[in-house]
Amino acid sequence: MDGLKGCRKDFPILSEKIDGMNPIYFDNACMTLKPEAVLNEICDYYHHYPACGGRSSHKFGKIVDKKINESRDAIASLINGNHDEIVFTKNCSEALNLLARSIKFSNDSIVLTTDKEHNSNFIIWRVLQQEKVIKKHIYTAADKVLETIERLHKHGEKLSVVSLCWVSNLDGTFISEEEIIAINKGLKQFFPDALLILDAAQAVMHKRVDVKRLSADFLAFSIHKMMGPTGLGVLWGKKDKLEKLSPFMTGGGTVERLDSGNMPVYLDIPERFEAGLQHYAGICGATAAAKYIAELDPTEISLYECMLNKYATEKIKAFDCIEILGPEDAEKRSGILTFYFRKPATKHSDNEPDIDQKLSDRANIMIRKGKFCVYSWCSIHRNGFFKIMPGFDPVFYRASFAAYNTKDEIDRFIEEMARIVDELSDLPDFPK
Ligand code: ALA
Repeated sequence: MDGLKGCRKDFPILSEKIDGMNPIYFDNACMTLKPEAVLNEICDYYHHYPACGGRSSHKFGKIVDKKINESRDAIASLINGNHDEIVFTKNCSEALNLLARSIKFSNDSIVLTTDKEHNSNFIIWRVLQQEKVIKKHIYTAADKVLETIERLHKHGEKLSVVSLCWVSNLDGTFISEEEIIAINKGLKQFFPDALLILDAAQAVMHKRVDVKRLSADFLAFSIHKMMGPTGLGVLWGKKDKLEKLSPFMTGGGTVERLDSGNMPVYLDIPERFEAGLQHYAGICGATAAAKYIAELDPTEISLYECMLNKYATEKIKAFDCIEILGPEDAEKRSGILTFYFRKPATKHSDNEPDIDQKLSDRANIMIRKGKFCVYSWCSIHRNGFFKIMPGFDPVFYRASFAAYNTKDEIDRFIEEMARIVDELSDLPDFPK
């Protein structure tokens, strides 16, 4: 099949030749490709109405205002939220930082996250602890969140925020909707004022998102991970919860006026959180991205990506020296396949290109290598890897799939992997 519903043709980069070959792009958890419709919206902004929004009443200004409204509508509709609840930020990290700096904490507040958070949902809470804005940031395994909430209640602690990675960018594992709803119910039962935040960077687009059904208080995500332009993210929040935040970034476009003491009187939500001129081209592109995804249908995207992951997983499992990170069952890892080698080294010398580099250089196959900004999990679980081999600090390789990828591309990837595995066959494997 030519991608989900034949969508490959909508992505111009996929038919470009680089060194005589089409690109095979499997770095979608980091950044997705953009369809023509998104590129056109961005160009239209710069070509036809390159002005600012929310300020100017001339013709260009009016078009931009209309475009911003359309964008909030399209994004709200994709996640079943309301227009006024869509706050534009720079990315998901900024949305989470905005929240962390705008929630009114007391110095006995506790913040709970999972142990598999992206740095953007981890470091800021550590910083708040360091600055003594909160008492403590604690973390636990995703399946222990509910019991941790109960334990904190039993010990008379004050839990103010539970902030969870919905789908992990490290290995694709996720918290089911039912679990999220149960966590929220438990949270509100024991701590009625506490807030549930979802880091949905790897969820929006890859699954149907219905904020009303989830009943979380806030959701943060990046537009560049959902076929939209770079430099744009979204914070969605329930209206009454957004209204209780005190903006941490202020400036033009956030205030209605200054009162008699020159103190700010803020605009209504969402504008009060959007200080300064915004990324209008990105906001226009985001409309097209949200509509495009809705048209493909997030439920179908999720099934398609999972099918590709199953296909790739079966083939990767055939390599004896490769281990999959997380559960072997691809259905538990969304569209993400992260793996590592059961070898102390995957190179014969420092000059030899690494695996991701070989794939890219030889076949335009783009995957990502590293720890994917999930540093905390890697250090918390170090000892697990040391059981394989003392001092073993694995390098992870991640292939992450999207609606435009195909089984043929996976076949090509596996062919190149077979060549790489063969080249490494003289390097010893760890014993099983
Ligand atoms: N969070 C992005 C990734 O996982 C950058 O690649």
